[in-house]
Parts: sequence; structure tokens; C-alpha cells
Amino acid sequence: MIEGRGQPSAGRGLLVEGAAAVATLAGGLRRGRYQADAAVMAGGPRSVAAWKGDVLAVGDGPAVAAIVAAAGLDARDFERLDARGGLVTPGLIDAHTHLVFAGTREAEWQMRLRGASYLEVLGAGGGILSTVAATRAASSGALTVGARARLHEMLSCGTTTAEVKSGYGLDVETELRLLEIIGRLGSEGPVELVPTFLGAHAVPAEFRGRPDATDAYVAAVIAEQLPRVAEQGIARFCDVFCEAGVFSAAQTAAVFEAALAMGLRLRVHADELAPSGGAELAARMGCFSADHLAEPSDEGVAALAAAATNHPVVATLLPATSWFMGKHHFAPARRFIDAGVPVALATDLNPGTSPTVSLPLVMSIACVEMGLSPAEALTAVTVNAAHSLGLGDRIGSIEPGKQADLVVWDVPSVDQLAYWLGSRPARTVVKRGRIVFDRATGVRS
Ligand code: NIG
Ligand code: FE
Repeated sequence: MIEGRGQPSAGRGLLVEGAAAVATLAGGLRRGRYQADAAVMAGGPRSVAAWKGDVLAVGDGPAVAAIVAAAGLDARDFERLDARGGLVTPGLIDAHTHLVFAGTREAEWQMRLRGASYLEVLGAGGGILSTVAATRAASSGALTVGARARLHEMLSCGTTTAEVKSGYGLDVETELRLLEIIGRLGSEGPVELVPTFLGAHAVPAEFRGRPDATDAYVAAVIAEQLPRVAEQGIARFCDVFCEAGVFSAAQTAAVFEAALAMGLRLRVHADELAPSGGAELAARMGCFSADHLAEPSDEGVAALAAAATNHPVVATLLPATSWFMGKHHFAPARRFIDAGVPVALATDLNPGTSPTVSLPLVMSIACVEMGLSPAEALTAVTVNAAHSLGLGDRIGSIEPGKQADLVVWDVPSVDQLAYWLGSRPARTVVKRGRIVFDRATGVRS
């Protein structure tokens, strides 16, 4: 029963019963061979009990019932959810999105499919810059309505937490406006949002005529944008598009030094199109995540491998982006896993290079194009994604005491999750112990 929707509340508990299997992902960040361990409790029927928003117990039915009773709780205070032989996993975590934007870019997409490069389009004032123009011109109300609709689509694909970047404003006013919208949508729920400031996403048009355009814009990001963002406390992370032809590793480091001094954490767009020193910088500066990594240098892979035992940088790979850009080359996921680098996957949802809301689709592409196993892909969108956001102690796995963010899937096994290509196998989604989406009954968040 959903509180606040005119239906009686069954209490503060939720009991999911009758699952064929529960992939708990218990046990922390995974790397190397452990990336493939989804910690599955199979052999059903399995149950998960949640109380006051947190996981209370997981296991076979009688064991879970015994824990509920031993905690002095009354089974009648638990709403019951029949998983009907489906798989239960943690709520999925999308650790890289550009959710808030205006406009679409289908013309540019077709240019790229005919051979134009991404940086050629950007250099000609298209690409990111066309979304910046549309976003600056859009009202906050219109931006919010569009983003909210996409969030609901994400939820219906099993996403319960998402990182969201600014970066389509590129001036103080619009960057702040985007972060405020992200904050409002996050408080509204049910999808939990982690805000990232990406002022250094591209050099905006008004700087482009100058010979020192990129340096001048970096200086403006540091002196004008970052202090306002930090002072308002509206971003948890700072990100930079570190790429040859966009922002260099030195320019990225300058933004990051300032961001660290203002209390922000770091994640970085690194080595998407060419080795640009991004992976090395991520390891050196203690980024939580290095993203894209389709073209890391050997030194970059080695730096991430060396960091992995000490202060792991999660390699957040975005295969839907490579695929949608018509690339035949994908991030070397297997190499990262073999080198002991923890791997996450994300949608990169944005109107230019990855207009998808679906993590199950991203998992399928990762299996086909990067050689991940379905279990490795599930790890990558749950526990490892949680750690890339610094939230591994609260979300990403189904363990007593952790937040009860769950998905009941229409498939019985982890292997089938990524198998039904392009389908929507999420049946019921639970956020903080509350049903927030149910495909059959039409419950909406
Ligand atoms: O992660 N690579 C840079 N930024 C985005 C794309 C943004 C855009 O093209 O609008 C990305 O792919
Ligand atoms: Fe991105």
C-alpha cells in the first residue's frame, strides 16, 4: 500500500516473499574475479524483510520470519509483496547522467553516423553547445518537467539512485539553476539524486572568440562558478570533461584543486576519445570515479590498478555511448577487471551521445561488446556504482541495516536480466522500503 495515495498503510514494514533468487551483492566493493560474485541466494523461495526503510533480514522464508519475530515485530505490520518467482536485486544505481537538459540532437547523431566526429561537431558550435543554448533558453519549470519524466522512465527500468551533472549551463546563473533543479527533484523522490557540478564540460560560445578561450573559461569556472556552487552546498561532486581538445589534464587539475579546497569530491570524464592523461590524473588526485575510459593509456590503466588496493578509483564505463556513437571500439573492461580495477556501468543519459534511461540495456551492451558476464554487469550497476558515489555504506546491496532499495524483476535469474535485449523487466521497485513503481497495478511514484 502506498502512503499518501488514499490506500491504507500496512505499517512500517515490507515483506517480499516468493523470490526465485535474491542477488544480495553483499560484501562490499568488488574488483578482479570478485566482480563476478553477485552473492546470489538461489534455490528459492527467498524473502527480504524491510522495516522503517532499511533491510531487516534476507534469506529463506522461515529464517526471515524468525528474525522478524525475534525483533519483537508483528508480522501484520508488514505489507506483503509476492515476487512470484522473480529475481530480487538491490535498486540499480546510475552513476553518470546528464539528466537535466532541453532539446534533442537527432540531426547531429545522423551526421556522426555518416562519419563526422564528435569533436568536429562540438568545434562547429554544435554538440554540447547546442544543448547549452537550448537549456539556457528553457524555463526552470520546463527543464524540471522534462527531467522528471525521464526520472520516471529510469525508475521503471529499476534505477533507484542516480548521479546527475550540471554542465549545460556553462555560466554562473544557469549552472546554479541546474543544480537547484537537481536538488528539488532529489527531494521530491523517489529516485535519490547525487548532484555533480560540471561547469568545465565545454568552453561556451561567449569565450570562443578569444585566443586564450579555454584558460579564460577555466579561470571563470574556478573564480566565479565553483565558489557559488560550494557556498550554496548544492553539489557533492565536481567533474571535468578531461579530453584532448576540450580540457587538458593540467586544466582539469586546476579545477580539481580548487574544488577539493571547497570541500567537493571528484569524478572525471576521462580518456573518452583519446588517451588524455585522465586516468592517471584520477588516480593521482583521488577521484571517486573515472568515467568513459574508452581510450586509456597503458600508464593510465596501471595507475588505476595501483590505486585499487589503496584508494580505489571506480572505472565507470559507458558502453551505450560508444555504441550510439557508432564506435567499434569499447572501453577495455576485461583489462580493467583483470588488473583489479573495480568496474561500474552507467547510462551517461544525455541528448547527444546516449539518449537512454535504461541500465538493463547498458548491461546488455556491456556483455555483448565488452565481454562482461551478466553477474559482472550487475555488480557494476549496484555495489560498485554505490562506491563510486561514496554511498557504499548505505546502498548498492541487500544487507541488514542497509537502505531497502529493491527491484523485483520479471525474470528468475541474474543471467536473464541482461538477456532480454531492450525489454523492461523491472516489475516492482521499492525505495526506502516503500513500493514506488509497480508495472501491473500502475502505481507511480
Ligand atoms: O559524457 N563527453 C562529454 N559529455 C557527455 C556528452 C554530452 C553531450 O554530448 O551533450 C558524455 O558523453
Ligand atoms: Fe557524460
